[in-house]
Amino acid sequence: MRVLNVGGTGNISCGITKALLSAGHAITFFNRGLTEGDLPTGVRVLRGDRNERSDFEARVRAERFDVAIDMICYTAADAESDVRAFQGVRQVIHTSTVAIFGGALRQTPTNEDSPPNPVTPYARGKVEADAVLETAHQRGDFAVTTSLPAQTWGYQHTLLRQLGRGNGWPDRLRRGLPLLHTHDGQLIWSECPADDAGVAYAAAVDRSRCFGQRYILTRPGYATWRQYHDAVTEGLGMVATYVDAPADTLIEALPDMTDLLAVESRWNRIYDTSKIQRDIPEFRPRIRLGDRIGEIVRSLDARGAIPDARVDDREDCVIADLAHLRGRLRAMSQGG
Ligand SMILES: NC(=O)c1ccc[n+]([C@@H]2O[C@H](COP(=O)([O-])OP(=O)(O)OC[C@H]3O[C@@H](n4cnc5c(N)ncnc54)[C@H](OP(=O)(O)O)[C@@H]3O)[C@@H](O)[C@H]2O)c1
Repeated sequence: MRVLNVGGTGNISCGITKALLSAGHAITFFNRGLTEGDLPTGVRVLRGDRNERSDFEARVRAERFDVAIDMICYTAADAESDVRAFQGVRQVIHTSTVAIFGGALRQTPTNEDSPPNPVTPYARGKVEADAVLETAHQRGDFAVTTSLPAQTWGYQHTLLRQLGRGNGWPDRLRRGLPLLHTHDGQLIWSECPADDAGVAYAAAVDRSRCFGQRYILTRPGYATWRQYHDAVTEGLGMVATYVDAPADTLIEALPDMTDLLAVESRWNRIYDTSKIQRDIPEFRPRIRLGDRIGEIVRSLDARGAIPDARVDDREDCVIADLAHLRGRLRAMSQGG
């Protein structure tokens, strides 16, 4: 198949490209050429900006692709541009996100039919984009398959922790500094390696039972934040130490470090993966974060993407304040 990937050099895209190439598809990326990374052998690139709407749409239409994967469709306007650009394409694989189920999950486990609850501008944009493309499917413009990835990690950008984005924490771990978390690390989180997610995208190409369907894309089964943080720490050859704190306290004390905690990771994230396992049985995630973390951290270090943890001491200040407060409470309860 002649497959277009709008994007192509991001985290999930790297996994998709490997799987598409090994299935023998002909791949073209559409991107601006700004993101670093080696272009895989055999991949063609159309250079351009998708926000230059008429240029993007005319060039894509002229190519007559069989399948279009859009990795960077974030808004209704992006999706409406896709509807114009992908005339004549047989299938569109659109990348949404499980962040459309924000806040405390309304249904456990959450599945593809659970009611969306977008609590961020990002999630609201995705819900609107999903609706535009799913309407195009119903109208018969092209078949749409919607992917709803949970955290999908690879080599390209930041590595999440429970609090949120930001790459300072691997340096804390290798310096033996403690990590703040909530609920004793016992909340459930959901993650998937990009290479395994890529297998699911490639298998969905031209698969008629995936037409008009949404799929939650994450590793089947449940794991806690404690297991996630431990896997990273052990992968770096260290032993983790943790300091527990209430979510509200951390969000108030560290507002710009707790973006994920505020909207998702202060609650369990439990997803039903039975639909993807039924329709895309090739998707069987096997790669473990602990096995890849050394390589990921080396790759981030090589790009200078992991800051020195000693430069920003706010996490240590919060830990010191909590220890002081707990000491005073202990003294008070002992009548001091
Ligand atoms: N990773 C996760 O944990 C996760 C979880 C849920 C959902 N998602 C979804 O997955 C998608 C991201 O996937 P990814 O990680 O593979 O991609 P990515 O890291 O977001 O990469 C973006 C790609 O798009 C290109 N690009 C960016 N802006 C562009 C523009 N205006 N015009 C043309 N090309 C542009 C970039 O190359 P240039 O800079 O060279 O143009 C790059 O190839 C997003 O839709 C996100 O919502 C990700």
